[in-house]
Amino acid sequence: MFGNRPAQTAPPAPRKPLKRPATSTPGKSPEAPAAKAVKPSRAKQDEFNQLKSKLHRRLVEQLDLSAMEGDDESIRASVSEIVTRLAEQEESLLSYNERKRLVAEVLDETFGLGPLEVLLADEDISDILINGPQQIYVEKGGKLSLTDVQFRDDAHLMHAIDKIVSSVGRRCDEVSPMVDARLKDGSRVNAVIPPLAIDGPSMSIRRFGADPITWEDYIGFSSCTEEMRTFLDGCVVGGLNILIVGGTGSGKTTLLNNLSSFIPEDERIVTIEDAAELRLRQPHVVRMESRPANIEGKGAIGIRELLINSLRMRPDRIVVGECRGAETLDMLQAMNTGHDGSLTTIHANSTRDAVQRVETMVMMAGFDLPTRAIRQQFASAIHLIVQAQRLTGGARKITTITEVQGMEGEIITMQDIFKFEAMGASSEGKIHGQFVSTGLRPGFLERLRSHGSRMSDTLFERRVLSVDKVG
Ligand SMILES: Nc1ncnc2c1ncn2[C@@H]1O[C@H](COP(=O)(O)OP(=O)(O)OP(=O)(O)O)[C@@H](O)[C@H]1O
Ligand SMILES: [Mg+2]
Repeated sequence: MFGNRPAQTAPPAPRKPLKRPATSTPGKSPEAPAAKAVKPSRAKQDEFNQLKSKLHRRLVEQLDLSAMEGDDESIRASVSEIVTRLAEQEESLLSYNERKRLVAEVLDETFGLGPLEVLLADEDISDILINGPQQIYVEKGGKLSLTDVQFRDDAHLMHAIDKIVSSVGRRCDEVSPMVDARLKDGSRVNAVIPPLAIDGPSMSIRRFGADPITWEDYIGFSSCTEEMRTFLDGCVVGGLNILIVGGTGSGKTTLLNNLSSFIPEDERIVTIEDAAELRLRQPHVVRMESRPANIEGKGAIGIRELLINSLRMRPDRIVVGECRGAETLDMLQAMNTGHDGSLTTIHANSTRDAVQRVETMVMMAGFDLPTRAIRQQFASAIHLIVQAQRLTGGARKITTITEVQGMEGEIITMQDIFKFEAMGASSEGKIHGQFVSTGLRPGFLERLRSHGSRMSDTLFERRVLSVDKVG
């Protein structure tokens, strides 16, 4: 079941002791309230927008960007001077701050993504969700809120979409109205435009935080406990095949990244993703990204092909960003044929649901396998399932860590080793509860120990590990 992985010769590098941050880390505070801008009157806003368009037009008339010399920063400084001068020539009654804002917004239009720049500059924002030009939501600290930021009209929003997708060599138009792209900082972008999007162009941006969430944050945010972290560390080092399950935006990729951080430095890691989101620190990593079809509908290379290819690359570990199609069966087969220590995620709302999803995905991919055979593949491939969940109120937690034990008849047997038990909700609807060690000892413990793990038995004594602070 575990292949012939040699025992770890070099022990994993010692890690810094984990400290609970006294205050939440800036840039990824889970509780930070969404900023509220003061809303100017409609007439004032219209006047401001007209002035902005006018300045932008005059700037374009006066300027030949290609003829400007220097690095980006010095060009931006020169353009800023020109816009400031143009703004001063306007007779409109603008306050000092309004003038400053005007110049900043014209520069955002010229060099960036217009109105989105203010949102992109806020590191606490994790998602930007644009439903047509006038409705932009953000997620901040786990909570969704409507912003005051707007595009002028569909054309203005389309201009920003075009700027993004053309920078990655794609097009978004009637022929390909649904596009994936990325911002320069790595943020994941999906745009859908009419006729598919009924109420105007829409775009979803998953921010790629400058400051990724680490194990210290997991513990500081009560997303898991020290004991769970220690256990997961041992499981990854010991070469277990781990499946992360969770719903949309539940924190699967973040968890995959953090689990991958436990892979010993002397192993060769191959990562396969649709959009490169993982940020592994190990020196020996081969990163691969799937490719969508070109404008003629040709040249697509999916996760499955990359996975099959990766098997010829002598990987010690295969990390697949997400299994959502035919690659699922290949992944299980790879895990079953000696590629231990592989990690992947799947979109499912519970551990049991994950099994069903895998069955559906394998069947939908056209493989003619009886359910029992698929379950058998699953049960012998996956050793551990870790569930990520976004709870009501916005907190993200590791809610179960489950051992897959095997099959009994038609049923896959599993046991929870650690879990989060919800106990109630605050007046704002935020769920609170406790992490517990269930008292069950995983069957693979001896195996982990034979791989050098020093996991103590006390980790598995039935007890409450931590209780959320209420309020
Ligand atoms: N434990 C956590 N505490 C606070 N925020 C978190 C935590 N885990 C993830 N996040 C944040 O939640 C957002 C979603 O995380 P992530 O991209 O990992 O989710 P996902 O399940 O992979 O989403 P998708 O289904 O869209 O692929 C990110 O902004 C991430 O920074
Ligand atoms: Mg993800």
